[in-house]
Amino acid sequence: MTETQGSSPSRRSLIGWGGAGLALGAAAAGGAVAMTRTGDDVDPAAAEAGAAVGFHGSVQAGIATPVQDRLHFAAFDVTTTDRAEFVQLLKDWTEAARRMTAGKAVGEGAYGGLAEAPPDDTGEALGLKPSRLTLTVGFGPSLFKKLDLADRRPDALVDLPTFAGDALDAARSNGDLCVQACADDPQVAVHAIRNLARIGMGKVVIRWSQLGFGKTSSTTPDAQTPRNLMGFKDGTRNIAGTETDRLKKFVWVGEKDGPDWMVGGSYLVARRIRMHIETWDRTSLQEQEDIFGRDKGEGAPVGKAKERDEPFLKAMKPDAHVRLAHPDSNHGATILRRGYSFTDGTDGLGRLEAGLFFLAYQRDVREGFVRVQRNLASDALNEYIQHVGSAVFAVPPGVRDKDDWWGRTLFSEEA
Ligand code: HEM
Repeated sequence: MTETQGSSPSRRSLIGWGGAGLALGAAAAGGAVAMTRTGDDVDPAAAEAGAAVGFHGSVQAGIATPVQDRLHFAAFDVTTTDRAEFVQLLKDWTEAARRMTAGKAVGEGAYGGLAEAPPDDTGEALGLKPSRLTLTVGFGPSLFKKLDLADRRPDALVDLPTFAGDALDAARSNGDLCVQACADDPQVAVHAIRNLARIGMGKVVIRWSQLGFGKTSSTTPDAQTPRNLMGFKDGTRNIAGTETDRLKKFVWVGEKDGPDWMVGGSYLVARRIRMHIETWDRTSLQEQEDIFGRDKGEGAPVGKAKERDEPFLKAMKPDAHVRLAHPDSNHGATILRRGYSFTDGTDGLGRLEAGLFFLAYQRDVREGFVRVQRNLASDALNEYIQHVGSAVFAVPPGVRDKDDWWGRTLFSEEA
């Protein structure tokens, strides 16, 4: 470790030192080698408010990392069919991500460079802390077709089937690739996506994006479980970032899973789920609790006293969400949830355009999301929600060191 997260120079201090050249110099001198995150470790610095999360590691940050407060998620379409050009973009993105997650400005910074040229960085994150920013990249099924890589597409990256009740909007679905930006400061997350989109101009274009707040899943069991917009604790029985064995079993692609380039990666399912908030708010407390199979105050499963008590599924209504989503009802299927609430104004009919931007990571989409979502066809919650956007991505392994780049194992010859 050549640079601890806590001691990373902030965006402001680097620029303040006289800019750009110096900032790059600092990175080249070892500053770019952030705390290495190996395998499934949770970066202890990540618990610290405002700290940086290590960018390098065998897995990408932003999956098992303790969930940050804010999200900016973007799905991109690739506009070039030139593979070399796309690979160069991934390298440029990696370098920018390495800097931004460490709290540094992109390239030569936001000012101090050539007066005749637009600055490399857009500037709105100057003076802000790294805010535990993580940037996680994923490749959608359509990318493999577009870049003539069909033989490298993982079997586990299935096109999602149509599920009962789906009302998917094509303009909010799919995408050749995605970047999930999570941070404790929304401006830091938005700055990151904006700057990556800017670097990608002419090669990729944003297809859709989603802002999220109020994380609805916890990957840190000791922390207080957050609540979703229906007012219930969400993420109680999630995989924790510290549960190495369960992460290995259910989240990370293993050596025997295939293809080789995905070892250490994972698969991401994103679903924009609209909540019919106004209807929900007119529903009795008893019915609300029956729908989830947990009580609203403590979050305890039916018949139990405490949130962390083991659910007794048979005590719940047959169509209770927790009963149907539980691994025991799904041949053991277990996913890591990392979703966020959203409110995108109103829908023109006086109703909040709000809901859950559901994000789930798993080792195999067929054994994870597809299995659970199929079982949720009879979920009592369906009366109050509607899936309106959907996408699936292969999330490659982590960037190992300063010479490595996002997607190298997919695109380089020796992979
Ligand atoms: C707006 C939609 C949804 C809401 C409001 C919601 C809410 C909740 C709540 C409150 C819990 C109980 C606390 C917990 O253990 O986390 C829960 C559990 C769970 N949900 Fe959802 N959920 C939604 C959609 C989904 C979807 C689409 C899936 C997967 C296909 C899913 C999978 C799960 C799983 C696996 C559990 C844990 C079950 C257990 O092991 O006890 N949820 N959800």
